[in-house]
Amino acid sequence: MPITYEPEERLFHLQSPHTSYALQVLETGHVAHLYWGPRLRRIHPETLLPLGGRSFSPNPIPERDDYSLDTLPQEYPTYGRSDYRAPACHVLEPDGSSATELRFAAFRILTGKPRLAGLPSTYVEQPDEADTLELDLVDPKTGLTVTLQYTVYRNLDVLTRAARFRNGGTQPLSLQRALSMSVDFPSADFDLVQLSGAWARERGILRRPLAPGIQGVESRRGASSHQHNPFIALASPDADHTHGEVYGFNLVYSGNFLAQAEVDQFATTRVSLGIAPFDFAWRLEPGETFQTPEAVLVYSDQGFGAMSRTYHRLYRTRLCRGAFRDTPRPVVINNWEATYFDFDEAMLLDVARHAARLGVELFVLDDGWFGHRSDDRSSLGDWTVNLQKLPSGLRHLSDEIHALGLRFGLWVEPEMISPDSDLYRSHPDWCLHIPGRPRTEGRHQLVLDLSRQDVCRWIVETLTRVFSEARVDYVKWDMNRHMTEVGSAQLPPERQRETAHRYILGLYQVLEELTSRFPNILFESCSGGGGRFDPGMLYYMPQTWTSDDSDAIARLPIQAGTRLVYPAVAMAAHVSASPNHQVGRVTPLETRAFVAMAGNFGYELDPRKLTPQEQEATRRHIALYKEIRPVVQFGEYYPLLDPLAQPGAGGGGGGRTGQAGPAGWEGFEGPTLPRYAWMYVTPDRREAVACLVQVLAQANPLRYRLRLQGLDPGKDYHVWDADGRSWGTFGGDELMSCGLDVGLLAGDFRALLLRLKAEPHPSA
Ligand code: DGJ
Repeated sequence: MPITYEPEERLFHLQSPHTSYALQVLETGHVAHLYWGPRLRRIHPETLLPLGGRSFSPNPIPERDDYSLDTLPQEYPTYGRSDYRAPACHVLEPDGSSATELRFAAFRILTGKPRLAGLPSTYVEQPDEADTLELDLVDPKTGLTVTLQYTVYRNLDVLTRAARFRNGGTQPLSLQRALSMSVDFPSADFDLVQLSGAWARERGILRRPLAPGIQGVESRRGASSHQHNPFIALASPDADHTHGEVYGFNLVYSGNFLAQAEVDQFATTRVSLGIAPFDFAWRLEPGETFQTPEAVLVYSDQGFGAMSRTYHRLYRTRLCRGAFRDTPRPVVINNWEATYFDFDEAMLLDVARHAARLGVELFVLDDGWFGHRSDDRSSLGDWTVNLQKLPSGLRHLSDEIHALGLRFGLWVEPEMISPDSDLYRSHPDWCLHIPGRPRTEGRHQLVLDLSRQDVCRWIVETLTRVFSEARVDYVKWDMNRHMTEVGSAQLPPERQRETAHRYILGLYQVLEELTSRFPNILFESCSGGGGRFDPGMLYYMPQTWTSDDSDAIARLPIQAGTRLVYPAVAMAAHVSASPNHQVGRVTPLETRAFVAMAGNFGYELDPRKLTPQEQEATRRHIALYKEIRPVVQFGEYYPLLDPLAQPGAGGGGGGRTGQAGPAGWEGFEGPTLPRYAWMYVTPDRREAVACLVQVLAQANPLRYRLRLQGLDPGKDYHVWDADGRSWGTFGGDELMSCGLDVGLLAGDFRALLLRLKAEPHPSA
């Protein structure tokens, strides 16, 4: 049984194929955390609980001076009853006090996995895929019940956690902090890994040793953000792609979050994850409930690669939903970097016609098609076609695009409102704002107040009209600024600090409704690139525009960081012009194509400007991608060389000072490694694609052998490159143990793409 309960010891043991997680209800009613790691046959709690008195760690049970919550590993710690570490929840009572004590009351073990009300979450298709434990903890003074929700998957090494609060008392309570999970580790011998950066350089991998005190990441921006992803990991110092222990934590949420590790006075570590408590409060009236988002926990004792593959499998198959979950995604062309705001129908059709000839499958009309928008200063909210640019309307354009053999995609930014819009003129109170304070604009726009039901209804109805008028096959859902003056005209003062979370709930409700109304539209989420690349958005939209930096070299660390958690099929990656529009870099077309082929492939350039040779090459690239698409989009990912593969390497030059950077900063600072390499392998291990990119060439370089991973050691593989040149046939064991001599790549920014196919067995 994946979840067992031993009544004498009141011990719960949760098992996935290779992991165990154990907790125990103590005689005091507190719930202690016992263990999380490699799967065990049996748990002996007496060896795992470090009871014993410590100075300045008070004892809440008078007769037990060996017992303090300050030293006890716990499942859901509270504040004010002797634990001074970060609490999982903090509850304000009407009398102004906030010391809570949660004691065990009841439990349930269920087959399957219940959905979380109003929130995205991983799911099961059949009840026997997972088992769930619910533990009710009650605060005797207030009557507050906190239900801890744990699910283990039977075929994946995944544990999900969440918490549900219910006010069972007679007085209103105010949740000041309501995290999704807390877990205590018996040591601090870990590196903290985070995915951090900025707009256009998202999700750089940062790694640093834990130190006493609190370290972690947080978003206060109203979105999960470009700056920090809602993911952290603890990794043993020796962990690399294939070895070592890694504990991953990822929040299924798109708003403000907190992800932190606290190392205490005894060098134990507490990891906390959930909605950011900063500027958050939730009023819980008697009888009301509050559900936290879900945290997805993955343990690997085979390094980061195995952790990534577990996240990918789960997210590809049991987080993403809908008709496109298992369908190969189309090769798109997006007109943004081709035309920006400056287009008309003839120009768009010309771009589309050229793209169709090259093999592109879907044309996306980006920003600027509505209202009187000719730059970013107006019209968000006025979702009617701009007749100056498109006098025959959207329906006509989409028909013409379809007539070219392409599908039609449309950009929208529905969560925003331009002060220069008819919508704002008729509903000036529909944006987030605080009376008496100026409304801070970002990109000349304000944020619609999605905590309001009337605003949510308006978005659903307006977009239903737009998506039904034209023949829309794909939607790019953008969001281009973060929140300020976070207040809602509809909420009373005591609920103002609920606004940011209510906004996210409103957004999820809108997305649920629209994706259900339009099951045949492929939705892609975007927030100025990858500003909301999180599992919450992936639940509704199975792919995300990875970054507004489309430069292939800048994309190397961005894509490496993204794939640490999120699957390649979710990672939209496009070929753009050279010199690149964001960084001015000149790179070979082939390199741009190979880097984009690591994800969900497309183009972000004007195909009319390609030379005949470039057009020919592009035709070949698109044909190649269509052949390898199932391997990339539905295969298993094996990182070969990226910032994590060389822990402590300090980069290959570069770094903050222009010299080698401090160990652990490589991902954050851009491509400072000399080479990046990755591969994808089909689940049956019959086919694979490997790619290597050389950033800067060296004189007199070392020869380099690329050791592959994930192959079947017993199979022979034919290896050939993107030009169809055969490299010979090698054993899977040879390719993984000896590697391939990739020779010397002359020149900067060069790339090599290799394909592998298992030879039929000679006796077959
Ligand atoms: C930001 C997106 O990331 C870009 O791709 C583009 O759609 C612009 N917004 C349009 O305003």
